[in-house]
Amino acid sequence: MMDPEQQFIQAVDLLKRGELVAFPTETVYGLGASVFCEEAIQKIFTVKGRPSDNPLIVHVGKLEDVFLLASNIPQRFYDLAAKFWPGPLTMVLERRSEVPSIVSAGQPTIAVRMPSHPLALKLIQGVGKPLVAPSANLSGRPSPTHAADVFEDLQDLVPLILDGGECSVGIESTVIDLTREPPAILRPGSITREEIESLIGSLVNLAGAQDPIRSPGMKYRHYAPKAKVHLVLHKEHLPSAPQYLLSSEELPSAIVFNRRNFYSHLRQADRLGVSEIVIYCDSQIQKDVGLMNRIFRSSGKNG
Ligand code: TXA
Ligand code: MG
Repeated sequence: MMDPEQQFIQAVDLLKRGELVAFPTETVYGLGASVFCEEAIQKIFTVKGRPSDNPLIVHVGKLEDVFLLASNIPQRFYDLAAKFWPGPLTMVLERRSEVPSIVSAGQPTIAVRMPSHPLALKLIQGVGKPLVAPSANLSGRPSPTHAADVFEDLQDLVPLILDGGECSVGIESTVIDLTREPPAILRPGSITREEIESLIGSLVNLAGAQDPIRSPGMKYRHYAPKAKVHLVLHKEHLPSAPQYLLSSEELPSAIVFNRRNFYSHLRQADRLGVSEIVIYCDSQIQKDVGLMNRIFRSSGKNG
């Protein structure tokens, strides 16, 4: 076993040589590659089994990194970055032509975010280049929130997984498209629409809460365990003896879940080999738009 400092040095070296490294962020673990290394980025799609039309997020270590990636940057970007970066907010901007188009799956835009996890920031700074990173799971599986989850999906497929403990947020970043006027949320997360609107004014609603052309990722079944998921929104609709019950409030024989540990419980259900998961959401948790989106999608519905 290498100590964490040796692992870090190896991670920087691997990334500089065009290899992949999984690393922690505050949202979920990411599978990283250097942004200007097309071959490495191609490997990300192969390793994850990711559809080639699903664009990737670029992780920056400092604000100026964005100038390498995007052009015609609107004032709103600076306002949002000042308030929410480093943190779980991804912004879609116009892509510079120097950035390989494979990063954005051919789209003329680029998604950027500055993570707040200290190890993620240190890694980006160590490599000296922004890192492309999707969630470090096999495509379609729940996102990883522990190094062990990454290990479960990718142990034979990536040379190194950095361990930064449990992710503190637990669901992926909020994605906002700043190339449209007014801007629109493409993927809800822990930073809410209300928080964003209080800073930059009204956002537009996308038809059906998502737009498959502009945010291809949202059209795929996602975040799903192997078990069949039943969502229950009213306590009186709970089945009498569910095999595996996740509940947002204390109930007899239920496992209490929250935003941080939701994916982890889905993975645990798979490890136990359960065939059905019942998820009860009380009225309080139903207000968490980001978490409810993931819960709907884990049950095979678009939320
Ligand atoms: O919290 C997160 O965002 C995590 C951590 C690792 O940073 N990353 C993550 O990446 O969730 P991924 O690849 O699993 O999801 C990226 C999402 C997809 O829904 C994708 O369609 C959208 O961001 N996206 C990326 N680039 C885009 C672009 N140029 N235009 C529109 N949507 C984009
Ligand atoms: Mg993902």
